[in-house]
Amino acid sequence: MTFVVTENCIKCKYMDCVEVCPVDCFHEGPNMLVIDPDECIDCTLCEPECPAEAIFSEEELPDGQQDFRKLNAELAKQWPVITEKKDAPDDAKEWDGRPGKLGYLER
Ligand code: SF4
Ligand code: F3S
Repeated sequence: MTFVVTENCIKCKYMDCVEVCPVDCFHEGPNMLVIDPDECIDCTLCEPECPAEAIFSEEELPDGQQDFRKLNAELAKQWPVITEKKDAPDDAKEWDGRPGKLGYLER
């Protein structure tokens, strides 16, 4: 099993999640993070840390978010590991909860 970062992370990118991961499985893209499913040990620590509630167990992915399982695995191979929280985007709050953010994903 693994945990998965879903659509609401896009353009919110709060990064509170990276601070708690004991095995450094978060990878950073331009406007989203993903979890490497090969590294995640299912400790559950990151899930409650995300202010945007964007992290789910792969078994509890909400409707419409299933594709993010594959996307996390794919992008974790391309993006570098992030282990320290940085500043979130200034407009993170404005993007929280907006639908259709997948179209804004930068790779
Ligand atoms: Fe890291 Fe644990 Fe979250 Fe997996 S569940 S990404 S190991 S903090
Ligand atoms: Fe994204 Fe939430 Fe982490 S918005 S960067 S998954 S704290």
